[in-house]
Amino acid sequence: MNLASPRVVNIKDLRRLARARLPDAVFDYLDGAADDEVTLKDSERAYQEVIFKPRFAVATPSCDLGVTVLGQKLDLPFILAPIGYSRLMHPRGELAASRAAGRNGTAYILSTMSGHRIEDVKAESAGPTFYQLYLAGGRGAAEAAIARAKAAGYKALFVTIDTPVAGNRERDVRNGMKPLMGTNPFAKIPYLPNILAHPRWLAAFLADGMSRPFPNIVVPGSGPLAAVDVASALESAQVSWTDFKWIRESWSGPIVTKGVMTVDDARRSVDAGAQGLVVSTHAGRQLDGVAGSLRVLPGIVEAVGDKTEVLFDGGIRRGSDVVKAIGLGAKAVLLGRAYAYGMAAAGDAGIERAIEIFRADIIRTLKLLGCSSISQVDSSYVTTRPGFRVD
Ligand SMILES: Cc1cc2nc3c(=O)[nH]c(=O)nc-3n(C[C@H](O)[C@H](O)[C@H](O)COP(=O)(O)O)c2cc1C
Repeated sequence: MNLASPRVVNIKDLRRLARARLPDAVFDYLDGAADDEVTLKDSERAYQEVIFKPRFAVATPSCDLGVTVLGQKLDLPFILAPIGYSRLMHPRGELAASRAAGRNGTAYILSTMSGHRIEDVKAESAGPTFYQLYLAGGRGAAEAAIARAKAAGYKALFVTIDTPVAGNRERDVRNGMKPLMGTNPFAKIPYLPNILAHPRWLAAFLADGMSRPFPNIVVPGSGPLAAVDVASALESAQVSWTDFKWIRESWSGPIVTKGVMTVDDARRSVDAGAQGLVVSTHAGRQLDGVAGSLRVLPGIVEAVGDKTEVLFDGGIRRGSDVVKAIGLGAKAVLLGRAYAYGMAAAGDAGIERAIEIFRADIIRTLKLLGCSSISQVDSSYVTTRPGFRVD
């Protein structure tokens, strides 16, 4: 597939190609969010309320994009976020994301809801890999996954705290995600015409062996958890701050809490012994009506930025968005849909193209700002429109 410019100029172009290749059920799972998707829209809109303050006539012959995150030196200021069911979007899924991250000198965070094995994903990457933990399948399954991630050489554990239940993702309900992932063949019939209308995706899905159990959620005594939709998988996966005690005992490396949206939770995260946190709305897929994550970032950085590494995600579609988040205090950011659209459109090549777009965008933005490295970007390069911030 031709992904070069001018066919693919930005992430919207990759989204368009993903939409064409995927059946509605899979595209909407990737693209959609909870309820009226207010938080998703606000997450994207918030960048328009951050204004750059450039310094011109400054020599910027080269641009260093390197950052250090959780003790790992990265060549890029963005990491690839955990995206559950990546293998449903493309057979290479998590393997492709891990490989692309490593090849480009950055890190990949593997979701618990992966279709590929922890060990195989690690083997694809020359760079650091991190493991994202849900308690799906219970504590025994989580402890087994943590032990495997440790043995495989994963460098940090990201514990997602914003999924006491799955959010109300109405696109998934309408598209029949539950029956499609279930075992009753008759319940799938109403959704088959749309799937048959996407033969490229269907051929790849069939060749890949179709839905299979989650290879990293191995319930002691009963084996890998069967393939189910995300709402079912997250039933009884609730994590609480008291769980951090046993998680801390099972994992010796850095722990990061993912899904912090208030200063209170940021302080609890520090008290629970986490070395980092991710300010995140879970892509607007959980509690609709929380603010776009960029709005709460400055308050959280002010409160705990000197005690913990503050990472950030949500709505990042351009390199300039990355620079804005770093200007507001993030140490580095996570890309979610931005690379997943590329993965869904064209596997490895699609992720490479997304990363290439971001790298070029960030370098251009830094030069236009008068910065010769990403580490130079601070709050003096950005300001926000009145009413931007939510505390
Ligand atoms: C399709 C999809 C699946 C996701 N799966 C997970 C997951 O398994 N675990 C997790 O912690 N976050 C998950 N997230 C949230 C992402 O890790 C990240 O926080 C979010 O995508 C960032 O927002 P953005 O997509 O607007 O960049 C998922 C997001 C999407 C869009």
